[in-house]
Amino acid sequence: MSGPEISTLIHVIVAFFIAGTLLFQWRAVHPVLSSSDGDDQIREQIRGRWRPMVHVGATILVVTGLYQLMAVGMPKADFQDTLEASGPAYHMLFGIKFLLAIGALFIAGAMVGRSGLMVKIRQSASKWLSLGIVLVIAVIAISRYLAQMPSA
Ligand code: HEM
Repeated sequence: MSGPEISTLIHVIVAFFIAGTLLFQWRAVHPVLSSSDGDDQIREQIRGRWRPMVHVGATILVVTGLYQLMAVGMPKADFQDTLEASGPAYHMLFGIKFLLAIGALFIAGAMVGRSGLMVKIRQSASKWLSLGIVLVIAVIAISRYLAQMPSA
């Protein structure tokens, strides 16, 4: 396997873990643990265990994503410039995907964060997690479109 292929594989595996756990938190963890008041300790234990995973996962996604942009994305964008009619621009779609992905990662981070702002966001966790799911679906749809764009 080539460098970009390995990077893509790692990127996709980590992306699906982060995306899947947002869904799991929204539909299972949060409704169960917010239904009773005595669950603060369990909530804190879950956050403590999950926090390093989110931080490491987000770092891996950004690092592999930037590498893919340079190794795979730039050549596609350059090739697209040589075509006359070629649909939406690679750079524009990548920019949208990047902003949406940062939004989704911010929400994943807010679910485990310690600052006052993160605590406030968690008070309406269900709303934020559902927004996170919408963002992740859009990110995956755009990513698949980018992946299928021709490179030569
Ligand atoms: C919630 C976070 C993210 C998710 C769910 C996600 C998901 C994906 C998926 C599913 C692919 C498609 C791989 C394929 O089918 O070949 C992909 C590719 C890619 N991702 Fe991400 N990603 C995320 C974050 C990021 C970030 C933060 C960056 C940039 C720093 C990034 C940059 C890229 C690039 C450049 C590609 C390759 C596109 C191409 O083939 O032209 N991703 N991503």
